[in-house]
Amino acid sequence: MKTLKIGVCGVGNVGGAVLENLANSPDIVEENGGVRIEIIQVGARKGKSVVPYDLDVVTDLMEVARNPKIDVLVELIGGCDLAKDLIEEAIKNGKHIVTANKALIATHGDELFELAKENKVQIGFEASVAGGTPVIKALREGLVANKVNWFAGILNGTTNFILSKMSENQSSFKDALKEAQDLGLAEADPTMDIDGTDAAQKASILSALAFNTLYDFNSVSYEGIENVSPEDIVYAEQLEYSVKHIAYGSIVDGEVNVSAFPTFVPKGQLLSQVGQQMNALEIFCEEIGSTVYYGPGAGPKPTASAVIADLVDLSNGGWPVSDKKRNKNNFAKEDNQNFGRYFNLNVINQAGAIAKLSSVFADSQISIEALIQKETKTNNKENIYVPVVIISGPLTEIEAIQLKNNLELMEETSDSVKQFRIYNAI
Ligand code: HSE
Repeated sequence: MKTLKIGVCGVGNVGGAVLENLANSPDIVEENGGVRIEIIQVGARKGKSVVPYDLDVVTDLMEVARNPKIDVLVELIGGCDLAKDLIEEAIKNGKHIVTANKALIATHGDELFELAKENKVQIGFEASVAGGTPVIKALREGLVANKVNWFAGILNGTTNFILSKMSENQSSFKDALKEAQDLGLAEADPTMDIDGTDAAQKASILSALAFNTLYDFNSVSYEGIENVSPEDIVYAEQLEYSVKHIAYGSIVDGEVNVSAFPTFVPKGQLLSQVGQQMNALEIFCEEIGSTVYYGPGAGPKPTASAVIADLVDLSNGGWPVSDKKRNKNNFAKEDNQNFGRYFNLNVINQAGAIAKLSSVFADSQISIEALIQKETKTNNKENIYVPVVIISGPLTEIEAIQLKNNLELMEETSDSVKQFRIYNAI
């Protein structure tokens, strides 16, 4: 049987799960993958005490990158600084790389792939998007005969878990986040899950594969779920939507848009049914239409599963290396995808207020598709603000922000106006 000699750097949640899998059940990978994966060295900055196996552990990770006995360096330390130096050193020392590091690939992917090409090694990054669900493999292998027109997906398990718990169990945001952290779904610092960065990084990686863009996380427009309140979720239910964090990528006339926003998804759409920490991705190709990928996208075991799958692939020669030069100029200058919108605002309870509100929509030629205004039950109805929810016709991000600003400028409205996208299959 072939053997693959690896060094593993990082023994946190994911690194720990990789070691556990390979140490406890190597026979599954040997039988299914036809390769014996040998852990030659482990790099753990905290030292041997955090590695519960009889392995060679070093605290200087660069030792692993330079170890001549190792074929593949598995980078699971995360972050961009040390991880980048480590990977570059390993590549220069002729090692293939397997990484789960979406921040690094989304930011420095082009540079790293170029360096790998020069040194005739490969980089596996299946674990960087959708964890145990093989979406990178689908894009770079399974769909290689097709032109991708668009993708839409739920790419962050933590936010999907939080939104699902808020909707199904009426959990508070805080309790749901705590539960996600206890399950090891969230990042060490969950800010990047919550504020949409994690999903945007993953969307950026998908767009590089789907549309041959640069790995350029800065070209993704995104927003997190911080502003989704329990009230929004109740309104969504009434209007027959689920609130999800949806990443979109599309190419129209050679122009690419990539974004990730909280989105109202109609109950009839597949993505609205994706609950818990699950991820799902729909990829629409010109030639064959939609294919859909669903599965666990966060947590130690699903991520370790993707890391090990990459190792088996490497033992079989790795992946097709595209000859195409990355297209530097195909990102749209501004996000010009059209989406219906959900607006939530407070309007003063006086004659003509709703008429004025609707004239703001009419003046901009924007249709109102649905409107909810609940009756206030207080006796003194003077100067009382009542919540109003409006579903509008399609608007680009800039148009939606302009309309939101116009609504906020009205004398009859109070506080700030919230707006979220409504899902449409592009
Ligand atoms: N924290 C991520 C998520 C998993 O919740 O999806 C790793 O990318």
